[in-house]
Amino acid sequence: MIPREIIDEIVFRNDVETVIGSYVTLKRAGSNYQAPCPFHSERTPSFTVFPATKSFYCFGCGAGGDVISFVMRAENVDYVDAVKLLADRAGISIPEDGEQSERDGISRKRLYELNLAAAKFFRECLFDPQQGAEGMAYLRESRGLDLATIKHFGLGFSPNSFWALTNKMTSLGFTEEELIAAFLCKRSQKSGKLFDLYRNRVIFPIIDTSGNIVAFGGRVMDGSEPKYLNSSDTPVFKKSRHLFALNFARKVCAERLILCEGYMDVIALHAAGFENAVATLGTAITSEQARIFAKYTKRVVICYDSDKAGQNAANKAMRLLGEVGIDVRVIKLSGAKDPDEYIKKFGAESFRKCLDDSKTGFEFKIDKILSEHDVSLSDERIKASAEICSMIAEVQNNVERDIYIQRAAAVLNVPADTVRAEVARLRKRLVGEYKKKQSRDALLSIKNIGDRVNTDAAKYVAANDCEENILAMMIIFDEYRHAVAKGEIELTADDFVTGFGRRVFETLCALETSAEGYSRAVLGQYFSLDEIGRLEKIEVERRRLTRNDKEVFLAAIASLKAEKAATEGISGNDLLARLRSQRAQKQ
Ligand code: UTP
Ligand code: MN
Repeated sequence: MIPREIIDEIVFRNDVETVIGSYVTLKRAGSNYQAPCPFHSERTPSFTVFPATKSFYCFGCGAGGDVISFVMRAENVDYVDAVKLLADRAGISIPEDGEQSERDGISRKRLYELNLAAAKFFRECLFDPQQGAEGMAYLRESRGLDLATIKHFGLGFSPNSFWALTNKMTSLGFTEEELIAAFLCKRSQKSGKLFDLYRNRVIFPIIDTSGNIVAFGGRVMDGSEPKYLNSSDTPVFKKSRHLFALNFARKVCAERLILCEGYMDVIALHAAGFENAVATLGTAITSEQARIFAKYTKRVVICYDSDKAGQNAANKAMRLLGEVGIDVRVIKLSGAKDPDEYIKKFGAESFRKCLDDSKTGFEFKIDKILSEHDVSLSDERIKASAEICSMIAEVQNNVERDIYIQRAAAVLNVPADTVRAEVARLRKRLVGEYKKKQSRDALLSIKNIGDRVNTDAAKYVAANDCEENILAMMIIFDEYRHAVAKGEIELTADDFVTGFGRRVFETLCALETSAEGYSRAVLGQYFSLDEIGRLEKIEVERRRLTRNDKEVFLAAIASLKAEKAATEGISGNDLLARLRSQRAQKQ
């Protein structure tokens, strides 16, 4: 048995698009990639790779799954061998049985202890009237933080010395290797001795959702460079997988999370009562982080800096968050460069108004297009209107589309009917393309008939639809799986109608309550490749729908229960009828 943690790591470090790209030539299609399917012969590519969900699916032959399933198919090997191949590829060694999962002889536990000790040291320095005076004055006076906030975030100060931390940590028994691995110290090329990396900076500890201190950020107190020094990746920290202050925000994230750019923005927002604010750690948002958001909330309000760089970054964040099914809103602050400055200038109430007035991704995009074109010039106005119309054409909902048409007409200063006609023309083309694709898909799989994966699906079409919705939501969203496994939502294996649905449900629940816990990457141990392909399909279909809230989940459960009752009713009647006719024959 390979530990789940290692399997997750292997999947994480093998980008699905890179691995698959080494077998077939992938072409970008929006945020995904397409290629002719390597598993069946076809002319138009229906094989799609989804980097955001780290998965692939062929709409033609139904092959699908994660990077492990891909290698199993492509190399014709079993689950364990596929995992081993991928481990080699990523340079990860799989521990032999009984061996502790330690990397380079340094255990994660020791690094957590070291980070905790370092954070305590930095805090003591900050609160030391001599050593920390400058840092304290900076945080309280220049940045306007109160003591409670400073303590809440565990802020600290690293003295202006090359050895303060090194000496202290060594005296506590931490080794040089541990100090280097934690990105706290470095070895001097000249003297061969260790020296502190964080010097004369205010320190922001980064805490994971289990409460471990995993990294640090340190800011200079003047204009020198670099402004922030951040831990690079260590055995206990991957920048791209953490969000600053999520340890606090996760407790109040039900309605929405606020995503901003900087540590100081998050701290200012929390201090002003917006404890649902988080930030990435000095990098643009990754799809890994987008998935973390999707785990915790349904809506994210992006509140990036108001400069051009910030707005471009907002655009990218919007796309990544949209891909994982989050309802994304954007705030563009005016009169201040970032949320920290905004709150200081205009106060918390005013910020709350901005939150409530936040724009949908669509409105944000229209504004962005308009800001890129000078619509007083006619050729610029034509370009802007072409971009806006093609965006509107893709909106599915009629009412929504009409609202946008009105808006576009107003901002472009053209008659609404002109915009409407252009949108209609573009839509006709889109719908045509869609229909062509649809009929191809339809030909390939006449609803559930000859379904070898789920042999009951053709008999129980409605029940199977409910099951697929429920299972997809349980696979995609941790919260539904938790709630069902814990019995908070009433759903049992007996509610399932098809044998396949029942088995998937039982496996998800068993994994959820197992010691190692659930991970999508281990499903390959319990299902055949065709079955994994089916799970991918129902996930892909679910992701295309926009509503994933609890109401939808509960509604699907209620319909399944009704379907189940109906099937039992019918088979009961059938049985009765058969008994009667048998009796009649005998007589
Ligand atoms: P900002 O420059 O907007 O910083 O960078 P900020 O948080 O608003 O800081 P103040 O208000 O000037 O103190 C946003 C984020 O980018 C990362 C940090 O995580 C910062 O919070 N960053 C910035 C770095 O990692 N290194 C840098 O040199 C600058
Ligand atoms: Mn700032």
